[in-house]
Amino acid sequence: MEEDAKGRFSRRQVLAASTALAAATTVAPGGARPAAAGAAPEIVGPGEVRVALRVNGQVRETLVEPRVTLLDALREKLDLTGTKKGCDHGECGACTVLVDGVRVKSCLTLAIMREGAEITTIEGLADGSRLHPMQVAFLERDAFQCGFCTPGQILSAVGLLKEGRPRSRDEIREGMSGNLCRCSAYPNIVDAVADVAEVPR
Ligand code: FES
Ligand code: FES
Repeated sequence: MEEDAKGRFSRRQVLAASTALAAATTVAPGGARPAAAGAAPEIVGPGEVRVALRVNGQVRETLVEPRVTLLDALREKLDLTGTKKGCDHGECGACTVLVDGVRVKSCLTLAIMREGAEITTIEGLADGSRLHPMQVAFLERDAFQCGFCTPGQILSAVGLLKEGRPRSRDEIREGMSGNLCRCSAYPNIVDAVADVAEVPR
């Protein structure tokens, strides 16, 4: 680390050094690419490193600092702004994407940790011009107002069904409880998910 004229380190330098230290002492922290079992993680950064993310069936290469979240990489580097940033703290679910078919809050994971995974965002959910059944259900049930939470709601609902079909509306509410809607479109969201999950009213 370089010191300034008074022998001090910048906050950025201290953070970068902390990240590198953490990378050396834990399994897969920020600043380290995950490694195969038994192998030491590759320590990268703190400057930008090249990552290749497989998003919506395409490999997209970009440069990111190791501390950059998947959410910011998608939005700021790959121009996939359908994934929304609400709280940026893992509380609202607006940033939900699918990683290898599992719903993940993209503000809570680092882009470099998701190399090699299959990432699906709302832009990649439809099959060409044919919408995914969950997108159709949200439209038919009018399951949104402002629409800000909707991409995350839809991907979370798709992930929920992959985890196992909810058997009741209560299970849908429970399964979708990590996705908040400031417009309180909850009844319609439950209706939409129930339609696709074939849960009776
Ligand atoms: S932006 Fe990720 S949970 Fe709110
Ligand atoms: S539709 Fe507005 S936040 Fe959910």
